[in-house]
Amino acid sequence: MRKAEAEQRGDGPARTQSVEAEAAPATGRLIPVHVMGKQYLVPETLTIMKAMEYAGFKFIRGCGCRGGICGACATVYRKAGEYKLRTGLACQTVVEPHMYLAQIPFYPANRARFDFSSLTAAPEEIFRLYPELFRCVACNLCTKACPMDVEMMDVVSALKQGDIAKAARLSFNCIQCGLCASRCMGELPQYHIAQLARRIYGSKIAPRAEHLARAVAAVSEGRYEEWLKLLMAADEEDLRKRYQEREMEPPMSDEDWVPADKEYL
Ligand code: SF4
Ligand code: SF4
Ligand code: FES
Repeated sequence: MRKAEAEQRGDGPARTQSVEAEAAPATGRLIPVHVMGKQYLVPETLTIMKAMEYAGFKFIRGCGCRGGICGACATVYRKAGEYKLRTGLACQTVVEPHMYLAQIPFYPANRARFDFSSLTAAPEEIFRLYPELFRCVACNLCTKACPMDVEMMDVVSALKQGDIAKAARLSFNCIQCGLCASRCMGELPQYHIAQLARRIYGSKIAPRAEHLARAVAAVSEGRYEEWLKLLMAADEEDLRKRYQEREMEPPMSDEDWVPADKEYL
């Protein structure tokens, strides 16, 4: 292992790290961050996730899509000189000098067990499964903690009022990272409750999508089997040609767009 690598990973002398850390910002290249209490020098342009990998960490948990979608990389951090605890996604947040970082790949929030098919769309179902809903003290910390700008306190309020449709709509961008629950003084598992609301809304309240029902029926009846077999048997060159020549939906097309070739519809 190179000396620089050894120092980055904490195998080198701590004093050397700290001296380099003080000089690093002047170059604009390497900045000091602190991962679980230990200092590392990392390029200032990296996200927290890439900076930790640069520092020698290997993600086994706490990393999924790397694109701000899966919610696996919840991170709590504080900046030097501040008392304020901040939250973010490690794959989306760029490092800053002297961030103190801790990963929260899993948060042990209560998740109710139930047979979804036996639930109705009555709000009382949610009240029964999650009575802690009414422990909310309206502090709004959940909203402030959310990296996806979900107005989680409003979601909780809507749920308490029995408005499942509103809760489903307001929580649509939730990626289940758990950060809201980690800051909740009422100890609510907001994201699990909101997910149940979305499931109930999608399954038992929203109008049925007829076009989706038709598509599912077509798949069930084996309408695409022949074409799937053809693709499975195709060699790489054939697949590339088909892929490159396929008719693509224009980027700004409206919802009535249909391809010229309707054979596969
Ligand atoms: S609402 Fe909660 S679980 Fe959902 S993205 Fe925001 S902080 Fe994460
Ligand atoms: S953090 Fe908890 S107590 Fe505070 S508003 Fe959100 S759900 Fe309510
Ligand atoms: S790795 Fe999926 S949201 Fe960050």
